[in-house]
Formats: sequence, C-alpha cells, structure tokens
Amino acid sequence: MSEQRQYVPHETPGNADRLQTVLEVSAALDQVEDLDSLLDRVLTEARAFANADSGTIYLVAGDRLRFAYNSHSTQRKSADPDRNRFNYLNNTIPINDESIAGYVAHSGKPLVIDDAYRIGDDVPYSFNQQFDREADYRTQSMLTLPLKSARGRTVGVLQLINALDSTGGEVVPFSQEDMLYVLLFSKDAASAIERASMTRQIILRMIRMSELRDPKETGAHVSRVAAYSVEIYERWARTHGVLNDEMRHNIDLLRLAAMMHDVGKIAIPDEILKKPGRLTDDERLVMQTHAVVGARLFSDGDSDLDNLSREITLHHHERWDGNGYPGRIDDIYRDPIRMGPGLKGREIPLFARIVGLADVYDALVSRRTYKEPWGEDQVLDTIRSEEGKHFSPDVVKAFFDVHPVLLAIRRKYTE
Ligand SMILES: [Fe+2]
Ligand SMILES: [Fe+2]
Repeated sequence: MSEQRQYVPHETPGNADRLQTVLEVSAALDQVEDLDSLLDRVLTEARAFANADSGTIYLVAGDRLRFAYNSHSTQRKSADPDRNRFNYLNNTIPINDESIAGYVAHSGKPLVIDDAYRIGDDVPYSFNQQFDREADYRTQSMLTLPLKSARGRTVGVLQLINALDSTGGEVVPFSQEDMLYVLLFSKDAASAIERASMTRQIILRMIRMSELRDPKETGAHVSRVAAYSVEIYERWARTHGVLNDEMRHNIDLLRLAAMMHDVGKIAIPDEILKKPGRLTDDERLVMQTHAVVGARLFSDGDSDLDNLSREITLHHHERWDGNGYPGRIDDIYRDPIRMGPGLKGREIPLFARIVGLADVYDALVSRRTYKEPWGEDQVLDTIRSEEGKHFSPDVVKAFFDVHPVLLAIRRKYTE
C-alpha cells in the first residue's frame, strides 16, 4: 500500500476503475427506453458511485421541480418499497433559492452539504425537515447537482443523501472526488433523460392525434383502458411470481402501449369510422384492419416499447377460443390485408389478452353512439360467462380481483 501513495490520485488503479465504470454505465443508459426505468437506473448507479444511502431525482416541469423518483437502501425504518418509491409522485417545489434542490436547479451549480441540520444563515436555501419526519429518516450529508443535458438544458436535479463510509455503517460527508465522478456521469444521464422524455411526449401526441380522428376513442377511454390494464397485469404478475423489477418495467411500458391499442383506426375511412349504428359485414372487415395497420406503426422499431405496442395493437381483438382476429399473419405489410386463423389460448400474448379484456369492459360500461351503457352487474355476468370463450381465465381472475380499483379508475377518468 505504501508504494501506491507515490502515484497522483487520478492515476491510482482504484480511480481508473471508477472512471471506467462511470464511462461504461453512461454508455448503457442509451439502451434504456422508458423514462421511469431510466430514472431508476440513473439513481441506482449514482448512489453506487458515491456510496450514498438514498437519493432523489427531480425533473423540471415548467417553472417547478417535480419529485420524480426516490430510492434508498434498507436503512430506513419504515421500509415499504412501494410507498417510498412513489408516494411523492405529484409533489412539486418551485425553482427558486428557498429549497436545496430549487437552488441547484436555479443556479445550475452543484452543492455539497455536510450536515443538512447545520446549514448556516449565510445561504438563501434551507433544508425541509418534513420529508425526514414523514419517512422516519435522518438526512445528514447531501450532494445535489443539476442534470444538464449536452444541449445545455437543465432537465432536473439529482440529489444523493448520506454518504456511507467503507464499512457502510457511518454517515460521512461526500468528498470532492465523489462529486467529480457523479458530475461526470450526470451529463450523460441528463441527455438520456431528455431523450426518454421526448419519446414519451411523442407517444402522447400520437394518441391525441388518433383521438382527433375517432370520436369513440376519447382520451378518457384510452386512459381508462391503460389504467385497467396496468391494475390487471400487476395482480396477474403478483400471483405468477414475476420479480418486482421486471413487473415495474412492464407496467411502465404497458401503460403507454395500452393507450395506443387503437391508433390503427387513423387509417379507417370516415364513413365507416364515424358511422352511427351497426356496420355491414364488409364494413366490419375494413374496420378490423385497424389492428394490422396499428401494428405497422411499430414494426420498424426494436425497443421493448415498440415490441409491446406491436403485440397489443395487433392482437387486442383475439379471442381465447380462437374466434378473434387478425390471427396469424405472415407479412403485416401485404395489401390487401387478409386475416389469418385466430390465435388461440396462450398463443395470444399475455398483454394483448389483458388489454383486450380491459377494452371490452370499458366499451360495455360506456355510452357509445350505437348503444347505451350496460349496468355493472350485466357486464360482470357477461365477462364471467365469456371466461374460456372470449377471455383468458387467468386474466378474468385478475380482473375480478381488482374490480373495486377499476371502479375507482372509472370515477377518475370520466368523459
Ligand atoms: Fe381495437
Ligand atoms: Fe378501444
């Protein structure tokens, strides 16, 4: 050990390793598609670089910071992972000098604080002890830095809390070196966050665009179908032993992909799409092509989100007994579109089965131009009697398990 002291710090093997890790992790961020998964990854890696017990990411939303993501090790006494990760989702704070994160976003400069409870009177910001009280936690050392993208825009703030010493037991101040590594990493992180936010915004615009075409597919309908689908999947995943991380990842993709289930309707002619009353058999065949056209929209991409969106748009009208559409199609680009034999049972992808049930449920309980809303009991009876025929038994089971939550979703997203 004593010989190594003669090296200057940035040339010691430890630092070279650390730098290497920062560069590798930064490159890996480009592979993450979904915004929430990305925030999770950024925070996990940043905490590892600085050996920080916990951390938070805030994202800029107009002139405020939105509390977007929070994670920590097991030290917190009330260790309920769901609660701590998502409980502040709707909280925002103004970007000004009063709070620590607000100050960092406003000034664009990193801030190192050795003890949050001993901040002097000579600075404009102060520490908000409310979060500690609510989470039964003691914040001590803090490293807060702006997430500035390569384009120079501040997209958020990364805050690491309580650096731990090498034994992991004692809270120590963050070092200058910690700050430099995290700062180096934060630029790539910010650019990746900027990219993922843009993807999400484009998707939301695409949904709004297809809404303009189709008066039946309102924003409220797609939001409800997405929310029902997430609830049904979460229950399904918990009863089928899906690991937490995988489940969270799928939920995020599912929410967006489910919203897009009918974007293919953008290609259906007005006289069919907007026809009041029942369609003729020929018209119905044209209408059914929306599943294939929708799938085409995602076929040039290969991200998890593209794949899931393709699966859902293509197969959300399949039936468990094989009598749905469009079935097996070798080439979704071939015109005219010819439907194959319907997929059957587990051939139908799980997420398409889930969105299929969520979509039918919402259509039945809602008013449409051609029908009055059905009563809840009548709808539930129908779904129960279609178990194993139209609908997949495992998905029907999950549906009934979460039915009270589905009613709450309907109250939240009304037309
Ligand atoms: Fe559809
Ligand atoms: Fe729909």
